[in-house]
Amino acid sequence: MLEKFSNWKSKAEQENKIEEVKLENVPKHVAIIMDGNGRWAKKRGLPRIAGHREGMNVINKIVKKANSLGVEVLTLYAFSTENWKRPKNEVDFLMRLPERYLSVELPKLIEENVKVRLMGCKESLPAHTIGAVDNAIEKTKHNTGLILNFALNYGSRDEIVSAIQDIAKEVVAGNITPDQITDGVITEHLMTKELRDPDLLIRTSGEIRLSNFMLWQLAYTEFWFTDVLWPDFTEQHFLEAISVYQQRTRRYGGI
Ligand code: IPE
Ligand code: IPE
Ligand code: MG
Repeated sequence: MLEKFSNWKSKAEQENKIEEVKLENVPKHVAIIMDGNGRWAKKRGLPRIAGHREGMNVINKIVKKANSLGVEVLTLYAFSTENWKRPKNEVDFLMRLPERYLSVELPKLIEENVKVRLMGCKESLPAHTIGAVDNAIEKTKHNTGLILNFALNYGSRDEIVSAIQDIAKEVVAGNITPDQITDGVITEHLMTKELRDPDLLIRTSGEIRLSNFMLWQLAYTEFWFTDVLWPDFTEQHFLEAISVYQQRTRRYGGI
């Protein structure tokens, strides 16, 4: 008889040995692929946009929790370069979400010392979306707490392509030679240039893939997947992910 295959969870995780979160080893950069809004809505017989609205309400709880735990950067995948393939009404709704979210939450973000940041291709985003985000960036630019990095119209391959184009231009201009292109030079040309790589990646909704998210930056990140749909994600799930992270041994190729 075939042995039952274990899933993507480690042994400790399968056995549910979740301990308390230790404040001294909190991941400094947490990235989240917030997935499952559509399925959450479908299960309730609601339109997909109802799932996005509900998902938006989760963000603020997780931001607060991350900030209070001392997480330095929280990157949230809100819209990918591939999400333009969706029906127009859904895309339009998603493009209104940053304004909706910030119109309510910006005063709290300012008060909580959160610094808003954007990662993604600004050019194809509607003016109203960019306007809301730029305003939040401006109003929080002196804040020194959690960096809230929104990945909006973000695609990792596009990001890498434009980094290569920029570097190639510098080579052509004679500023650097091909031999001088290092890991560090590439990192410097990405949209995350002043951020450390994520320590922990969370993806909700049971999908075990990256969907073009931070391919370069996730080289040594710890992954945590959950079947929970994003609108159902709570602070407790977030703590569980961090607790699992704290039980992992990061070796970076060493022993
Ligand atoms: C994530 O939820 C939100 C975005 C991608 C914008 P989905 O909309 O992908 O929800 P599912 O995966 O269809 O359930
Ligand atoms: C990834 O989710 C993008 C965001 C969460 C913003 P998708 O729902 O777009 O990913 P796929 O299509 O299932 O891979
Ligand atoms: Mg999805």
